[in-house]
Amino acid sequence: GRLWAVVPAAGRGARFGGDVPKQYLDVAGEPLLAHALRALLAHPKVNGAVVVLADGDERWPGWAEFEGKPLRTCIGGDARADSVLAGLAALPDEVRADDFVLVHDAARPNLSAADLDQLLERGRGDPVGAILAAPVRDTLKRSGDDGGIDRTEPRERLWRALTPQLFRRLQLSRALEAARDAGIEITDESMAMERQGHRPLLVEGAEDNFKVTTPADLARFEFVLARRGL
Ligand code: C5P
Repeated sequence: GRLWAVVPAAGRGARFGGDVPKQYLDVAGEPLLAHALRALLAHPKVNGAVVVLADGDERWPGWAEFEGKPLRTCIGGDARADSVLAGLAALPDEVRADDFVLVHDAARPNLSAADLDQLLERGRGDPVGAILAAPVRDTLKRSGDDGGIDRTEPRERLWRALTPQLFRRLQLSRALEAARDAGIEITDESMAMERQGHRPLLVEGAEDNFKVTTPADLARFEFVLARRGL
């Protein structure tokens, strides 16, 4: 099996507040990133993961494996693209240039087995790859500089990009490097691929595969676990 995951966990968590980066917040006795790792590595087709850490991270527990599968670590960068690039470079040699790689946020703990399965099933049948996404449910407004509403954006065919995202190792590296060289900040991997003219597949996933960004998101995940009886 050559399917591996890259888990960027090098964020400093500035938006969340407090001094613990959000990937290390304790939930049910484990750091948040352990929940994200378990969701990935519990899948029989996922063989291991590279966890990308911030330089000077002293909280990483030093795990060499998780769910019985190998873990590697490397040091990330100031921008998400730099962290993912470092993770791709740290994959084992057995992962070939045209093998698919999963990229999944360390702060996204509530990925379901069914969604991961769908992403792998459908994404590996696509020449480019695929991302999990959820339809936009709210009405979207575009504002002007003065805070007034310029217009309403029709929400048909608008999606929220989630993770994991599934792309080929070398194509993704090239796309991320190109975005970085162009000085463009990318907020997900697909954006870098799209800039290269690729059209990744959208795989509709659950709304509740959310990213923990605020304390309310953390409470939401605790509520999910409580309902599961943990
Ligand atoms: O900041 P944001 O919520 O977009 O971060 C998403 C994920 O990317 C988090 O798991 C975070 O740790 C990671 N990240 C990273 N390197 C950065 C910025 C974010 O690994 N420079």
